[in-house]
Amino acid sequence: MNIYEQLTEAVTFIKNCGVVAAEVGVVLGSGLGEFAESLEEKTVIPYEDIPHFKKVRVKGHAGQLVAGRLGGKPVVVMRGRYHYYEGYDIAEVVFPIRTLCGLGISKLLLTNAAGGINPDLQPGDLMIIRDHINMMGVNPLRGENDERIGARFPDMSGVYEKNLSNIIARGMQDSGLAVKQGVYAALSGPSYETPAEIKMLAVLGADAVGMSTVPEAIAARHMGVTVAGISCISNLAAGISKNKLDHKDVTETTGRIKNRFISLLSKTIPLF
Ligand code: HPA
Repeated sequence: MNIYEQLTEAVTFIKNCGVVAAEVGVVLGSGLGEFAESLEEKTVIPYEDIPHFKKVRVKGHAGQLVAGRLGGKPVVVMRGRYHYYEGYDIAEVVFPIRTLCGLGISKLLLTNAAGGINPDLQPGDLMIIRDHINMMGVNPLRGENDERIGARFPDMSGVYEKNLSNIIARGMQDSGLAVKQGVYAALSGPSYETPAEIKMLAVLGADAVGMSTVPEAIAARHMGVTVAGISCISNLAAGISKNKLDHKDVTETTGRIKNRFISLLSKTIPLF
């Protein structure tokens, strides 16, 4: 079965669960999943029930598609994502994104936890992603291209759309948050970077670093969907602070700012 046929099966299954409308897709990063609870008229579908979605390898709530409404707008949220470092193929990582696009979303908001490289970024800051650098060593579009899904050589000169970023920036201003924007570099992980690698990324123009988001943005743009991104700066990248990196610090920071994050998303997504 080719990807197009697999997508058709996944989309049909989700529609048969009662998800008939989808305008905005949202992917919630590590520690930020609670936002899904703020949707109205929710339908919750575990990833494992959806045809061709992979078995989830993390514990907890991660691994649910939550569809519902926010300010009247039909929204479909991915509570948890597949990471390349978990061992999935890169096509498996983006299959849920393609499914959201197949469901008919026209806008996709990608969120993540990331390490801050730019000295202007502090743990707890939210950074609007202005552009990305793909250093994962893989591309989700590699292989035979199906023109029914998208073009062979899609343009990537404006991945993160200005209008959506402006809506988020205004939402931040209204909430009294500092508006920070920057370039997100994605590495495959799962080891954190060395201080030398972070120095290299700074020279290359990266403001923040993480292990997700970029393949998803590429897959969504391939399918013509408009993309926005927000990084929650969960820690200073390796060598920027003297401390060793610890996943506990990432979850501690996302836990600390999650109410801010949820309120920003609740305010801005209805304006998308
Ligand atoms: N590096 C890579 N990925 C991350 C980091 C980091 O410092 N923090 C959260 N995700």
